[in-house]
Amino acid sequence: MDTDTRWRGEITSTEVDRLHAEAFGARVHTDEESDWARRVEEHCLGWVTARRGGELVGFLVVVWDGGAHAWLQDVVVAANARHLGIGTALVARARQESVTAGCEWLHVDFVPGLRTFYVDACGFRPTESGLMDLTVC
Ligand SMILES: CC(C)(COP(=O)(O)OP(=O)(O)OC[C@H]1O[C@@H](n2cnc3c(N)ncnc32)[C@H](O)[C@@H]1OP(=O)(O)O)[C@@H](O)C(=O)NCCC(=O)NCCS
Repeated sequence: MDTDTRWRGEITSTEVDRLHAEAFGARVHTDEESDWARRVEEHCLGWVTARRGGELVGFLVVVWDGGAHAWLQDVVVAANARHLGIGTALVARARQESVTAGCEWLHVDFVPGLRTFYVDACGFRPTESGLMDLTVC
């Protein structure tokens, strides 16, 4: 089955939320709680979708500072569609669209177990990064 990969492809909040719930163990939110379609339209350079047989099987978001820097966020592929090259195709499309927008740097942070994916398969250079949990005082 072919995979249809699109920049700023149509999404419903529910289908993105289902992918996230499956991958990260979160519950599926209502559209009122988490309106993905509105959030990515208002806050991001863009997003990439991957569909197989019409079903959303891959998604990522490209956050932007309006200048030289873009960041990957919310990278996810459905469990039944992994190891088919969809994740690397999503990242490659995000890279291409970030270059088109004039970005010079694409950032991502990840847990050590994903180094094979981001560094070896997608071509990111390893760096140190920092993260702060804003939900705890
Ligand atoms: C990480 C993820 C997006 C990869 O998607 P994918 O479509 O399976 O990736 P690809 O098929 O392009 O993988 C290419 C290569 O990257 C490496 N790779 C893929 N997934 C990996 C993982 N979870 N851990 C370590 N290496 C991985 C493998 O070497 C793979 O080659 P192989 O298929 O021959 O083994 C997917 O596993 C996923 O959604 N995981 C859960 C959510 C998540 O952790 N997202 C990242 C948040 S930072």
